[in-house]
Amino acid sequence: MRRICVMGTGYVGLVSGACLADFGNAVVAVDIDETRVELLRSGEVPIYEPGLEELVDRNRESGRLSFSSDVAFAIQSSEIVFICVGTPSLPSGEVDMSFVHNAARTIGQYMEDFKIVVNKSTVPVGTGDEVEQIIRKVRPDADFDVVSNPEFLREGSAIDDFMHPDRVVIGAGSQRAMEAVVDVYRPLYQNDTPMVLTGIQSAEMIKYASNALLAAKISFINEIASVCEAYGADVTAVARGMGLDERIGPRNLFAGAGYGGSCFPKDVQGLAATARRGEVDAPLIEAIDTSNVRQRRRMVDKLHHLVGDFSNKTICLLGLSFKPDTDDIREAPALEMVASLIEAGATVKAYDPAAMEHSKQEHPDLICCEDPYTAAQDADAVVLMTEWNEFRNMDLPRLLDCAATNRFLDCRNIYDPHEMVRLGFEYVSVGRVSRSPGESDDTSSWMIPGRFSPIRT
Ligand SMILES: NC(=O)c1ccc[n+]([C@@H]2O[C@H](COP(=O)([O-])OP(=O)(O)OC[C@H]3O[C@@H](n4cnc5c(N)ncnc54)[C@H](O)[C@@H]3O)[C@@H](O)[C@H]2O)c1
Repeated sequence: MRRICVMGTGYVGLVSGACLADFGNAVVAVDIDETRVELLRSGEVPIYEPGLEELVDRNRESGRLSFSSDVAFAIQSSEIVFICVGTPSLPSGEVDMSFVHNAARTIGQYMEDFKIVVNKSTVPVGTGDEVEQIIRKVRPDADFDVVSNPEFLREGSAIDDFMHPDRVVIGAGSQRAMEAVVDVYRPLYQNDTPMVLTGIQSAEMIKYASNALLAAKISFINEIASVCEAYGADVTAVARGMGLDERIGPRNLFAGAGYGGSCFPKDVQGLAATARRGEVDAPLIEAIDTSNVRQRRRMVDKLHHLVGDFSNKTICLLGLSFKPDTDDIREAPALEMVASLIEAGATVKAYDPAAMEHSKQEHPDLICCEDPYTAAQDADAVVLMTEWNEFRNMDLPRLLDCAATNRFLDCRNIYDPHEMVRLGFEYVSVGRVSRSPGESDDTSSWMIPGRFSPIRT
């Protein structure tokens, strides 16, 4: 059992803290946001993440997990301090390191004996050295080691990702620190989870390089989707045919509205900025973000093509969060769609199972509805932006009855085009031939759509 302090109780800090407590460690989680700490202390979980509330409750009740605003006590009573604070983008694309730097200063200020400082935030290569210098400056005689332990969890499946990761990456500069952090992950080590034990710089790079490649895969299939549209090919069949090649793999090969969220956009930009700062010419890395920005714009253009001028139109959006099973709207493609529509004079009605409160704060003009059918009432088009499971099982004839027209833009390709047309929709999706009711479709009798779908992961 290790005594651990987790700095930051956001998506990563809270999930990591709860999971590390579940591994049997004694964890105290702190945050500079006192309201958040109070909420957590009163038994509430301020983010939507499947299974998190139960995990937090269980570990709090067992006494292994606690929340505090007393940072000095939390640091002094721990052997290992995990930094899990935000690293947002600056307008330049560079990473805003102020939260990490402040956390390092706080550690230096309060530490009294040997500490292992583990950076779990996603940070540019070289941050380990910066953290060391900051702590050293505040406390020149301090005894501590810095470790990089990037986190790969995905919102929506965060607990399972943390408990059953593809790998754990630990970058350390000393044997004592490496052994201590490996020990924290002992339950995973015993499960044969691969451990990548390396230097700090390499660990930092692994996270950035992984996210950039995953984002590139999405941008790549989105561009392929546009080429498919130009020549009548079906991107879902293309993705399946590609993904069965083991060197490519089926994951992250879904054409859609472009990637969003709090990680891919900022990490891709952060890596590009890191390359530029190191005077490295990296045109491929630079292009990932450009391609994604265009893809998001392409969705707005598709809708424009479908409904014409947006002014005085009513548009129904299904899904607002950047992906299903989260309330996170950071960089969500749906929010960009909302902004474009409202700016052009449209009325936007939306339904999302978890993200309406946050979205409304960002766009007060957004009309949030209690279900998809109310949102579709009198709409000039229905646009599916996020592939929540409940949208897969919607009563589509009822939706069609509610809307003022039969136009449907599916930005996530979750419906079968043949079926949508049979139901009476004018159906547009991404990288697949658009069809209207009455248009001849001589493949529908023998194509089995499910067999041509990509494997969704
Ligand atoms: N969200 C994800 O899916 C995900 C996945 C992997 C890695 N990451 C990385 O993990 C890091 C954290 O991401 P997040 O989504 O949890 O961020 P977040 O914004 O949800 O949470 C960060 C929290 O840190 C707190 N904080 C800031 N400075 C602090 C300080 N000095 N002391 C204590 N608390 C402080 C903030 O108040 C906030 O509650 C980022 O670097 C991110 O890139 C995120």
